[in-house]
Amino acid sequence: TQDLIARLESTIQNIPDFPIEGIQFKDITPIFLNPKLYEDVIADLVEFSRGKVDAVCGIESRGYLFGIAIAVALEVPFILIRKKGKLPPPFISEKYDLEYGTAEIEMRTNQIQPNQRVLIHDDLLATGGTTEAAAKLVEKQGAKVTQFSFLIGLKDLHGEDKLKQFDAEVYSILNY
Ligand code: PRP
Ligand code: MG
Repeated sequence: TQDLIARLESTIQNIPDFPIEGIQFKDITPIFLNPKLYEDVIADLVEFSRGKVDAVCGIESRGYLFGIAIAVALEVPFILIRKKGKLPPPFISEKYDLEYGTAEIEMRTNQIQPNQRVLIHDDLLATGGTTEAAAKLVEKQGAKVTQFSFLIGLKDLHGEDKLKQFDAEVYSILNY
């Protein structure tokens, strides 16, 4: 709703030139100082996904802050997608590009069921590299990514283009 958007816009802080010059960092941590606002964010994201997914995958680390609450409210399993080196086997890995260099994320292979409809959630869609890699991990296991949700989407970086291959709904509460 417009009200939720306005409350989030006045809560999320824009930090210029962090972590490097030219980048405007969006600090979501003030949301957690306001439990009522947090609840309303979760309710909004839950409404987007209700009845439409069988599992939620959250991406380390900021994707956990909202992802697990969404999954609990939907009464579906929550699966952690982690940065390289944190998960015991069995797991599969996927590399993706960062602005400088590459990164890798991993997911246990015994936690998602083939043919499950999956929501991938993260706090932010920027270039889309992280989310695309997460979706590949899910689909390599025979499950279907049917939804992506974010708090914030940065339209100018065209992250949504990388998600088109998955034929899933995409929702961001805030769009910049
Ligand atoms: C940030 C953000 C998203 C990702 C978006 O995470 O939380 O996960 O970058 O970028 P992309 O769309 O260009 O791939 P970051 O890797 O900084 O780690 P964190 O969540 O652990 O803070
Ligand atoms: Mg992240």
